[in-house]
Amino acid sequence: MATAIAHPNIALIKYWGKRDRVLNLPSTSSISLTLDTFETKTSVQLGSGQDLLVVNGRALMGKEAERVFNHLDLVVPGRQKAQVVSESNFPMAAGLASSSSAFAALTVAAIAEAGLEKTPEEMSILARQGSGSACRSLWGGWVEWHRGMEEDGTDSHGKHLAPRDHWDVRMVVAVVAGGKKKISSREGMLRTMQTSPMYAAWVNSYERDMRQARQAILEQDLEALGVAMERSTLKMHSTMMTSEPPIRYWRGASVALMDAIENLRAKGIGAWWTMDAGPNVKVLCEAEDAERVAAALGAFVQQVSVLAPGGPPRLV
Ligand code: PMV
Repeated sequence: MATAIAHPNIALIKYWGKRDRVLNLPSTSSISLTLDTFETKTSVQLGSGQDLLVVNGRALMGKEAERVFNHLDLVVPGRQKAQVVSESNFPMAAGLASSSSAFAALTVAAIAEAGLEKTPEEMSILARQGSGSACRSLWGGWVEWHRGMEEDGTDSHGKHLAPRDHWDVRMVVAVVAGGKKKISSREGMLRTMQTSPMYAAWVNSYERDMRQARQAILEQDLEALGVAMERSTLKMHSTMMTSEPPIRYWRGASVALMDAIENLRAKGIGAWWTMDAGPNVKVLCEAEDAERVAAALGAFVQQVSVLAPGGPPRLV
């Protein structure tokens, strides 16, 4: 049996929409920060009598299991039946990037259990096919996922931008709702691509956000990064909200949290928010400001976590 631990990553410049739905090839490039503390621990044992998936202590069947075992078929071609046991210490499917750590941990554990040798780039390409964002969790710290141009996806994988200790920032995560989202990112992306008049603008405008974020990270310019991150977030959510029928992950509390962060900024505290496919708000700030940011968010929600940059997946 092999066991791997992987951390989720939060996109600073977002991935939303695919140029290939089978291979999970994105229409746009993206940049992320891998987080510590939140993690998924996954064990894979090949050679069990039948395929069995246990997530957070519950045996899962149906679509979720099918997705996991299809991914194992891809990672370990011609594999034996497998037992997969996975635990995450944070809410799943709530826009907290749980699929990124889940598919990164599954990929790394399966490769180790099968005794295969793969580079991080090769593992990233495999993880991407389980869940796009997972291809960025193969590295710690600051990661770029280049959309790639090849039809087979061989140039569409994560790549290290800067190590975890490059910059002492924090991601302050405010949980508005921890429950499972109604519309998966997979379904949401497809609807957006098919129906939003804003989708073309989204695809045509991401390169500036990438350039600005990349440079801001290398120069440790929080304001430039924060501005690019909020812009990318708002553009992504604009494509969702203008889909038919519309997709709105924001709740009232999400907007109250944005207001709170903008009030902090007016007082001179450098803090910028982002949101993904869920109502939760994540705020990027310098480490020294994290407690003040957490206190401001804590006035609106019960659960606030302060997370530092995290490392790459590891075998345990
Ligand atoms: O690859 P998925 O299905 O986890 O989709 C990720 C989509 C967003 O979290 C909204 C954006 C991103 O780049 O992570």
